[in-house]
Amino acid sequence: TGIEELVKRVDGLSLDAISEKYPNCYPENNPFDVLRAHLSNILGGVTGVDTNIIYPNLQWTQGLDKGDIVLAAPSLRLKGKKPDELAKEWTDKFPENDPLFQKPVVSGYFLSFFVQPDPLIKSVIPMIRERGAEYGRNKFLGLRDPKDPSKGQKRIIVEFSSPNIAKPFHAGHLRSTIIGGFLANLYQGAGWDVIRINYLGDWGKQYGLLALAFEKYGDEEALKKDPINHLFHLYVRINTEMTAEKEELAKKKEAGEDIAELEANSLDEQARRYFKKMTDRDPAALDQWKRFRDLSIARYKETYARLNIRFDEYSGESQVSEEAMDKIGKEMEEKGIAKEDNGAMLVNFAELVPGKEGKRLEKPIVRKKDGTALYLTRDISELLGRYEKYKFDHMIYVVASAQDLHLKQLFKIIELLGHKDIAAKCQHINFGLVQGMSTRKGTVKFLDDILRDVADKMHETMKKNEDKYSQVENPEATADTLGISSVMVQDMSGKRINNYTFNMDVMTSFEGDTGPYLQYAHARVSSIRRKANLSDEELATADLTLLTETHAVNIVRLLAQWPDTVQNTLRTLEPTTVLSYLFKMTHALSSSYDHLKVVGSERELMKARMALYDAAHTVLGNGMRLLGLSPVERM
Ligand code: ARG
Repeated sequence: TGIEELVKRVDGLSLDAISEKYPNCYPENNPFDVLRAHLSNILGGVTGVDTNIIYPNLQWTQGLDKGDIVLAAPSLRLKGKKPDELAKEWTDKFPENDPLFQKPVVSGYFLSFFVQPDPLIKSVIPMIRERGAEYGRNKFLGLRDPKDPSKGQKRIIVEFSSPNIAKPFHAGHLRSTIIGGFLANLYQGAGWDVIRINYLGDWGKQYGLLALAFEKYGDEEALKKDPINHLFHLYVRINTEMTAEKEELAKKKEAGEDIAELEANSLDEQARRYFKKMTDRDPAALDQWKRFRDLSIARYKETYARLNIRFDEYSGESQVSEEAMDKIGKEMEEKGIAKEDNGAMLVNFAELVPGKEGKRLEKPIVRKKDGTALYLTRDISELLGRYEKYKFDHMIYVVASAQDLHLKQLFKIIELLGHKDIAAKCQHINFGLVQGMSTRKGTVKFLDDILRDVADKMHETMKKNEDKYSQVENPEATADTLGISSVMVQDMSGKRINNYTFNMDVMTSFEGDTGPYLQYAHARVSSIRRKANLSDEELATADLTLLTETHAVNIVRLLAQWPDTVQNTLRTLEPTTVLSYLFKMTHALSSSYDHLKVVGSERELMKARMALYDAAHTVLGNGMRLLGLSPVERM
């Protein structure tokens, strides 16, 4: 196999031995694990330091010009000599003719190591061919015990998207959907058992109001045809009415009229009563509500499918049982976590958690005066319910940073309830705002409308190149995919916590590191393969020693980094870690085309170069799919 090409170059090196010897070393998946293991073995001899101290200190470089691996001399913590001197000394002692590494380059106290191109090329390209979609994945990472698969996988819940029924699917939900979908893919690729949960905002007095609106103005046809928009319109209409009514009542009150009777029949009061029926499980009220919910979910599912996302569970605030919340409420009271205050129950963190932290956590209400539960109360019950049901090892909430406080309060209450272990498994993955997201007509819109706008724009762009356009089989579908890629890549370009401005012109451009550019880079490699018209067999048997140019070597060096990039992403949990890698790859590819022609080259050279580009195609595709994009083969 490919990886054996690397291992067999070194006398006495074996896959089993290194995966035994070094922690988190999975050489079958990662050429860099072999390189680091071998380098640690050499440096152990050179420095006299224990190889297990060296191994974790071998770092990635800032760029290919800085080598493939770097070691900072002080990181080995040797006392006595100056780090600069040590670096020089070790370089002098480094073997002259190592099969895998060139002599290190010293700069200050850094040693940069460059891999020998020949063994790297001969192992990485075949390795990518063999592993295909698996290249970059590592199913061992998610095992309870990496040495014993029979002990099972670790389980993670990723809760994401979580829109509110009858309300706009806004930028916060879009970001949660994009980031959450990506994180779920990431953990799945790392061998975890992933449960995707969508926690809908589908409960509360406002939904009593919505049901009233449907009784008054609802249209059965419209509901079935487009539930999300119909419910939204009803919701807007009834809210406008309710606001007007409230103003009216306030005026009357001011004028000294007795408004008690009017208030008792107000929309607000009717909504409260309707919602009370819902919480009391009145069958008619519940059925109606379930219908709204089911129809909305059916529509959401269509949109999620366009984004390559599916959920294992549509949970939601409505699914949290009143009994469970009562029970937790009592427990919180008994344990002195929640206290009565003017008829309501609240958690005064300042009294429970010492110092600044307690103050920062504020004083949230968990039960209103009228006995109703709140967003936070439902989250407490839901979290514990999920633990009961799934016994997760980890749970991620992908929610906007606007809710930082809410989630801190939630996790702290779980801890105060005596579930420190469960709280420790929970993590809030937050993200910043999107500014300026609206449709071309300028109104608040649903995700579908935004995706349609972006797709239209991409379609216009595609039409400008008539020649190419005529060759695309299904231009509408391609435009849709490109539109989605535009939105997603823009969203994933910066760190999650950064705010960004939704800019349709920038995201749909082919200039710069955009979605369309990434898709173009992928489609271009496909097009070369179509033109070269070589068989898989020819690629598999290509003579890779013909790949001698710096451009070819550099592409391979980047390809070799892919599994490490994925592993690093499991630490950063940032889509941009993957995206920046992919753009590095596309830049290396685009600058290579003039130097490494396929079509028009002599047959053997053509095969070798195509084998290289084919490997790049696989890795680009793997990276794009990890992000949740659908790579296109033509555009
Ligand atoms: N539906 C909420 C909103 O739109 C987001 C839910 C976040 N998840 C949670 N468990 N609270 O703001």
